[in-house]
Amino acid sequence: MKAIETILWDDDTSSIILIDQTRLPLAYRVVRCRTVDRLITAIRRLEVRGAPALGVAGAYGVALAARTVREKDFHRYLEMVETSALAIAHTRPTAVNLSWGVQRVLSRVYRSDSIAEAHHLSLKEANKVADEDARSCHAIGDHGSDLIRDGSTVLTHCNAGALACREWGTALGIIRSAVESGKEVRVIACETRPLLQGARLTAWELKRDNIEVTVIPDSAAAHLMRNGEIDCVVVGADRITHDAVFNKIGTYMHAVCARAHSLPFYVAAPLSTFDPVHSGSEIIIEERERDEVAFYGGHATVPEGVPVRNPAFDATPLDLVSAIVTESGILQSPLDWDYIAQTRRVI
Ligand code: MRU
Repeated sequence: MKAIETILWDDDTSSIILIDQTRLPLAYRVVRCRTVDRLITAIRRLEVRGAPALGVAGAYGVALAARTVREKDFHRYLEMVETSALAIAHTRPTAVNLSWGVQRVLSRVYRSDSIAEAHHLSLKEANKVADEDARSCHAIGDHGSDLIRDGSTVLTHCNAGALACREWGTALGIIRSAVESGKEVRVIACETRPLLQGARLTAWELKRDNIEVTVIPDSAAAHLMRNGEIDCVVVGADRITHDAVFNKIGTYMHAVCARAHSLPFYVAAPLSTFDPVHSGSEIIIEERERDEVAFYGGHATVPEGVPVRNPAFDATPLDLVSAIVTESGILQSPLDWDYIAQTRRVI
């Protein structure tokens, strides 16, 4: 399978290179972020998106801040890097990976004794975050492929693929690994209204790897389950708390339907997506702009003046989840949070 390089650090220009995911599948373009402000715009516009990729973006964002802050006084320099780092972390509130990636690299900046050392240590740690993410996705794929029977049809929602990570993917990583091990797997990709990450991105990357994929409207999922056309559901996650899995809006609906049809509902996520600190009720669900729902292809689909709600994520109670596939193996409720908190390397 051809590697997709979603997010990279370019040493020559000290900048972050991203695949612009807003342009797919029509155009494959990369964006170069030379400043923290440009990176924040890229995160806000979903040019880079998906929880693990946001973790890597946050990590490289702090390395970028460490290089772009122009201040000779070391104490003042640290304050300015921290301000930029927090601005990155607060750009999108739901995926915990973003603030996790930011904090991991910021902690290295704090431990530096000079600006030169902050440059060096921040990039070293950001590269480590990116490499670990790639390794985690391959490990998730290896563990999770055991759950996929030969000849299965797997329903997925949103894009939890290579484009949402450093490479390979979480939910789609499991599918890639199952296919690589010789299994025949078909994917049903829910289109994922309103921004169509399933139709645009999941279908694009699976087609590129010659994995059989069919796109359906989100509202067709229950119908296909009832017809016996789905064997299991595999999705990614933006944050996993003690009581719930937060993922793209519509995930909860699929979990309820899977339970109603006695189908396994699997979540695939690296340990960086777990939040040992907060409970589900404390998590901010990002609400995005009205126009994402009220316009389609540039045309208004909702009468002017009619309010719209556009929550980007929902929470699926853990008791609807059959298993969570991580880089450390397959976890089931009740989760061992002491182990998760240690392994996640919160600093
Ligand atoms: O708004 P997005 O596109 O960033 O939402 C992404 C998702 O909800 C993904 O399913 C999740 O981040 C898992 S990615 C491996």
